[in-house]
Amino acid sequence: MSDVPRYPVPEDFKKKTLIDNERYKSMYDASINNPDEFWSEQARQFLTWQKPWTQVTRSDLRKGKVEWFIDGKLNVSVNCIDRHLPARANQVAIIWEGDNPAEDKHITYAELHREVNKLANALRARGVKKGDRVCIYMPMIPEATYAMLACTRIGAVHSIVFGGFSPDALKDRIQNAGCEVLITADEGLRGGKRVPLKKNADAALAHCPEVHTNIVVRRTGGDVVWNDAKDVWYHELVAQQAEFCEPEIVDAEDPLFILYTSGSTGKPKGVLHTTGGYLLQAAMTHKYVFDYQEGDVYWCTADVGWVTGHSYIVYGPLANGATTLMFEGVPTWPDASRCWQVVDKHKVNIFYTAPTAIRALMGAGDDWVTKTSRASLRVLGTVGEPINPEAWQWFYRVVGDNRCPIVDTWWQTETGAHMLAPLPGAIDLKPGSATVPFFGVEPVLVDAEGNEVQGAGEGNLCIKRAWPSQIRSVYGDHQRCIDTYYSTYPGYYFTGDGARRDEDGYYWITGRVDDVLNVSGHRMGTAEVESALVLHESVAEAAVVGYPHDIKGQGIYAYVTLMDGTEPDDNLKKELVALCVREIGAIAKPDVIQWAPGLPKTRSGKIMRRILRKIAANELDSLGDTTTLADPAVVDDLIANRHGR
Ligand code: WTA
Repeated sequence: MSDVPRYPVPEDFKKKTLIDNERYKSMYDASINNPDEFWSEQARQFLTWQKPWTQVTRSDLRKGKVEWFIDGKLNVSVNCIDRHLPARANQVAIIWEGDNPAEDKHITYAELHREVNKLANALRARGVKKGDRVCIYMPMIPEATYAMLACTRIGAVHSIVFGGFSPDALKDRIQNAGCEVLITADEGLRGGKRVPLKKNADAALAHCPEVHTNIVVRRTGGDVVWNDAKDVWYHELVAQQAEFCEPEIVDAEDPLFILYTSGSTGKPKGVLHTTGGYLLQAAMTHKYVFDYQEGDVYWCTADVGWVTGHSYIVYGPLANGATTLMFEGVPTWPDASRCWQVVDKHKVNIFYTAPTAIRALMGAGDDWVTKTSRASLRVLGTVGEPINPEAWQWFYRVVGDNRCPIVDTWWQTETGAHMLAPLPGAIDLKPGSATVPFFGVEPVLVDAEGNEVQGAGEGNLCIKRAWPSQIRSVYGDHQRCIDTYYSTYPGYYFTGDGARRDEDGYYWITGRVDDVLNVSGHRMGTAEVESALVLHESVAEAAVVGYPHDIKGQGIYAYVTLMDGTEPDDNLKKELVALCVREIGAIAKPDVIQWAPGLPKTRSGKIMRRILRKIAANELDSLGDTTTLADPAVVDDLIANRHGR
């Protein structure tokens, strides 16, 4: 890979960085060779504990059993707010930038404390106690952060459902987690359009009798249907509450949140994270990977409905006493200059976004960027999917003016925090590589037989030892956790990603090796989309695969076999797209629907997705052996009608 360009740490950056290359190496060595000592020191430095732990960690990856900071006690809201008050009461904790460029708000740590405590009292008054699950279905407004932290104040477990999900998806998640309280808003606002959150919530709650309280934030003032039995306005509820709420001190291993994510089979899984280890790694990575320094303004463009929003809008930055920017809108509205206008308006120093957004903005042309200053920027970051070198270089050259390191961070909902990423003052960059492991992370590449690949090579990416922010379970189904992550290669955590390691030990993620799609950085199981499609009475069978898409990274390609006697037409295609939106949400819209009179199957009836992927990607000369198919002729038909019919 000697032809890959290398971007050394800029000399100016080196002078002021928290961690240079030497320090990275010594800390990484310590984290691997003296882990107990290393993690104890970090846990003491980054968090405030009510009671220290008696043992640093205990794990058995074969059983998917992971524990950190055993017997340690703490409270997350105290760590994210109270302990900062002596020094930072008047420092801005959250800069909120509205969808409408004329709207913004600055929330200090003192205000954050007040809002969170009042809401926590309100939840307690409604009977919510430690361990109870609270569902949050919100737009990107400060109340979403208050809701998360209010749950942590009283030891309740939040389960955030992305505001773009459908009523059905919301219902499934509320039921699976056994939530009894929902927090939502009348409507969301994105790109000038209203999102009917309360209406969606009403449709979901019709099937969730156990939800006794629905707390509604008035965001737009739009019309809503009111149900006196359970609906209550947020502003009315908190108005009556005291401004201090005694924090519930919880165990390091008590659950902090559940977050649903897609896998290759069945319904989405509720990934369970616990308190101490998660908060520590979120805080450490936020500081070290972004080189966050006192006074920096930091902006992560994710939504709190995804893990990136959990760890890098809320928990990591607030645990570090940082100023975090929360953006309600979308990067391309009112125009493609929005992000850079916001950077200049709030003097953003660190900007973290997804490759799909970078590609979309790159497509809009350089002028939208170059007409802004961006002089405040110091570090750029990406997350969610592999970034193609062209987009990386554009981000570096045009957005960062060749001056700001880009941290390409590889991690997952299940890992809770960054796992592979260049510390910007320590590691030379290579466009498209998430580079090297974070402290304490021991990645390995495993071949099909389960043997570790040594040196440069390619394989399935696994993690060899437990890390603090690791998934603890799949909510309500620990066996599924074991089956999904720990049984493919016993003794390892299996990520579901393939990767290559080069001669310098840098990792290059090649994408999922399972049936999980990554569409605009959003994870989706092919099985979920297929289940939605086959609900239609005219559909006999459906097979969904991903294919390369210029902006989204991957697009959704659906092969659909209709019932005998059904005539395919464009109207039916529209109905199928609408069905996916209804069942899952707009992010699950198929980009291509191809009518498939037959699907390629083995003689035992298993669909050969490899072939479908190749056809969708137009890689027709590498279809492989099709002679073992039950009916090889179906392949010719599928090729002849690619992207068509
Ligand atoms: C992919 C998002 C390449 C990967 C934090 C992973 C990436 C999945 C990167 C997790 C990256 C995430 N480079 N691929 N920097 N970051 N991925 O759970 O396939 O929504 O397994 O977590 O996204 O997606 P999730």
